Amino acid sequence: MKVTVVGAGAVGASCAEYIAIKNFASEVVIVDIKEDYAEGKAMDLMQTASLNGFDTKIVGSTNDYSKTANSDIAVITSGIPRKPGMTREELIGINAGIVKSVSQSILEHSPNVIFVVVSNPMDTMTYLVHQSTNIPKNRIIGMGGALDSARFKYRLSEALECPASDVNGMVIGGHSDTGMIPLTRLAVRNSIPVTKFISEERLQAVAEATKVGGATLTKMLGTSAWYAPGAAVSAMVQAIACDQKKMFPCSALLEGEYNLNDISIGVPCIIGKNGIEKIVALDLNDAEHAKLQESAAAVRKTNGLLN
Ligand code: 2OP
Repeated sequence: MKVTVVGAGAVGASCAEYIAIKNFASEVVIVDIKEDYAEGKAMDLMQTASLNGFDTKIVGSTNDYSKTANSDIAVITSGIPRKPGMTREELIGINAGIVKSVSQSILEHSPNVIFVVVSNPMDTMTYLVHQSTNIPKNRIIGMGGALDSARFKYRLSEALECPASDVNGMVIGGHSDTGMIPLTRLAVRNSIPVTKFISEERLQAVAEATKVGGATLTKMLGTSAWYAPGAAVSAMVQAIACDQKKMFPCSALLEGEYNLNDISIGVPCIIGKNGIEKIVALDLNDAEHAKLQESAAAVRKTNGLLN
């Protein structure tokens, strides 16, 4: 199993590290345009192999896509991260060109690759990869909901004063500070609705904190987060690599599902060796359905900025 990670920045390097430590891939290739940067990150990571007990071979490449040849999976993290106060949508001007060129370079050397798109604005970047590669839609997966759901579970565990492993919750919709939809109605603590443990008001506060989870960290760190994004990507890559048929909310190209067409946005998907194996039809209530339509309208507006 060969995985390419484009972008040796914090998210890409964290993703490569988690993939290596999970030891399901034979090779991880990290690509970056900055001279020797990917090679340096790869060497530093390989020097943890004997300590972290993995056999995965991690190599770096300065913009030479021949080293990515025959990758099974390619993660696109390249582009600029946001600074405090910026929205993800403000990155489109620079990141669209990078993502388009990178996805085409990958495809040249790996015609059967499955893409996992991370670069922001992620839903629009995912849509761009569909438009610019024309490969089957199941092979292009946007990573946002897996990260947002992890933040939702973190905030739930904080509110319930319990381990994150004791709660479950999902975030759908656009990966944006205003467009994501934490499904509070369906959140549970060990199969029991969380409203048995916290008030509706506290649950709404959890949802609001989830929505700005990325912006909160960008303000604290001076740049976008990387540990949780890297971990979320590595979990999705593992689900593909090991054909786990695991459910994640992912940005998927919709063709009628949820009454939406020609848009990539966060919905629950079954992830396995074919990428998106199935889009799951959730029974949303009227309020949730309306929020998804509103979120889609915002994503479509950003898609409109693609020239
Ligand atoms: C985040 O929310 C980078 O969009 C990513 O942290």
